[in-house]
Amino acid sequence: MNVPDIIIAIDGYSSTGKSSFAKLLASRLGFLYLDSGALYRGVTLFAVESGLIDADGRIALPALKDALSSLDLHFVSEADGSKLYMGGRCIEKEIRSLAISDKVSPVSALPFVREYVDGILREAGRRRRIVMDGRDIGTTVFPDAELKIFMTADPMVRAERRAAELRAKGDEVEIGEVLRNLQERDRIDSSREVSPLTQAPDAIVLDNSNMTFEDQMDWILDILQKRICSK
Ligand code: DC
Repeated sequence: MNVPDIIIAIDGYSSTGKSSFAKLLASRLGFLYLDSGALYRGVTLFAVESGLIDADGRIALPALKDALSSLDLHFVSEADGSKLYMGGRCIEKEIRSLAISDKVSPVSALPFVREYVDGILREAGRRRRIVMDGRDIGTTVFPDAELKIFMTADPMVRAERRAAELRAKGDEVEIGEVLRNLQERDRIDSSREVSPLTQAPDAIVLDNSNMTFEDQMDWILDILQKRICSK
């Protein structure tokens, strides 16, 4: 399919499979895939390792704000996709742990953190030909994206998917705990003041509760063909 230089924004609830969907779509189109949530997770990991968040989740706000000016988070393209680095260290594994998932939503609600992350994302999007996933890509980061998808799925289906993912990485998790974590994140992400998770008016909804990856690819490639390539 001959797709023009566009930005595809994929937003939606936690654990709806946005990353897997976006990654697969990017590889089918020969686009770059960027995971905006990884940056919020990277900032959270940095805050934890620097002692700027305590065990109860209290954040040392002025210190974190100051520290961001010298924090180097960047993506590196590797054979199996783009990976997030903090300086010279790949932090992909650490940022996906439940310990970071538990703390990331309050960190991502901070306006100065969003400003920091948005700067990195907008710079990356200048070349277009990207698929980016997150919560506010189609509403705030790239409101001009040519194609916007809003993903949702049944909460229990989402919790099961997330638990399987964590178990495959060796984390011992209990389904109830995973469900609580994602519902709490949905609540914080949807109710925060800055760039809350909402569906852009021009986004197309994808409920993938009962869809395989191939079903989802067929669905999106059909939309691309009809709405973008035939223009
Ligand atoms: O997609 P994820 O679970 O890796 O995202 C981690 C957190 O980052 C999530 O709780 C919400 C936040 N996030 C956000 O606020 N805006 C984005 N564009 C992406 C993620």
